[in-house]
Amino acid sequence: MFRKVTMAVAALTLTAALAAGPVLAKPVVIKFSHVVAENTPKGQMANKFKDLIAERLGDKVVVEVYPNSQLFSQNKVLEAILLGDVQMSAPAMSVFGRYTKQLELYDLPFLFKDIDAVNRFQASEAGQGMMMSMEKKGLIGLGYLHNGMKQLSSSKPLQVPADASGLKFRIMSSDVLAAQFKAIKATPLKKPFSEVFTLLQTRAIDGQENTWSNIYSKKFFEVQPYITESNHGLLDYMIVTSTEFWMGLDDALRTEIKKALDEAIVFGNQVAAEKSDTDKQKIIDSNRCKILELSPEERAQWVEIMKPVWGKFEKKIGKDLIDAAYSANN
Ligand code: SIN
Repeated sequence: MFRKVTMAVAALTLTAALAAGPVLAKPVVIKFSHVVAENTPKGQMANKFKDLIAERLGDKVVVEVYPNSQLFSQNKVLEAILLGDVQMSAPAMSVFGRYTKQLELYDLPFLFKDIDAVNRFQASEAGQGMMMSMEKKGLIGLGYLHNGMKQLSSSKPLQVPADASGLKFRIMSSDVLAAQFKAIKATPLKKPFSEVFTLLQTRAIDGQENTWSNIYSKKFFEVQPYITESNHGLLDYMIVTSTEFWMGLDDALRTEIKKALDEAIVFGNQVAAEKSDTDKQKIIDSNRCKILELSPEERAQWVEIMKPVWGKFEKKIGKDLIDAAYSANN
């Protein structure tokens, strides 16, 4: 009797399985978490990656993009990647301090004169090597992505460094950025990106530093009457994943995913270059705030007061690395 029932159940299971069609392997899911708006270089790069993967590997890999800090802040996302809660992100270089000191290089004020210099450095052996600087901690860099040069926004006009004395500025969680604001006798406050608008609106802080596209997409210009076009620093990203996830992929699939990611990065960098101009223009056109330019003499004052920060971090970052990055300007 028992045997008959067992056989009947087995037959039913087989019939149901055949009716359902062949058993398909579950696609690999890549959750890509980031903190900025979708219409930014990073937002558009992530969406492009998602589309390319859907087009080419639709049945094998699915990319899910979570923008606007929906899942994790930049400070929490690296831990989330290590725990396998998400598989990829592209945090700003400023938030990797717990995993590597090398990437703090990118926060040094007035290090790169423009994005071409950044490209030259990142293509060099030293620049490429930095992507493996967190390997022992379980993270690997898959590529660099630009946003642009940072500007200073504030509740009062900042023409020379003395104007910033005593003011409170929001920064990302980077000791280099903290030292940069202390150098101008201002108070740096490490706060998540998602809180910046409210902190500015309520006047809990006086200012912040960011790129034109972040100032525009997060509407900081609506609550900051002045933006100084200082180009004093760089906002750049590293696309990261966990070694465990990446090396666990089938070789051919990993190659295809990397190819799509590289193409998405090229696209994201084009968006970044365009947005540095167009989002600045949109802010000007809004008539909501005044853009201040620096004369060569004024700019020299900012350089003179901020550049000594390099010396403080030379040991941690590595003087060779700083020299290599600086020489990419020529
Ligand atoms: C980002 O661009 O990812 C965030 C920048 C910031 O926190 O200021």
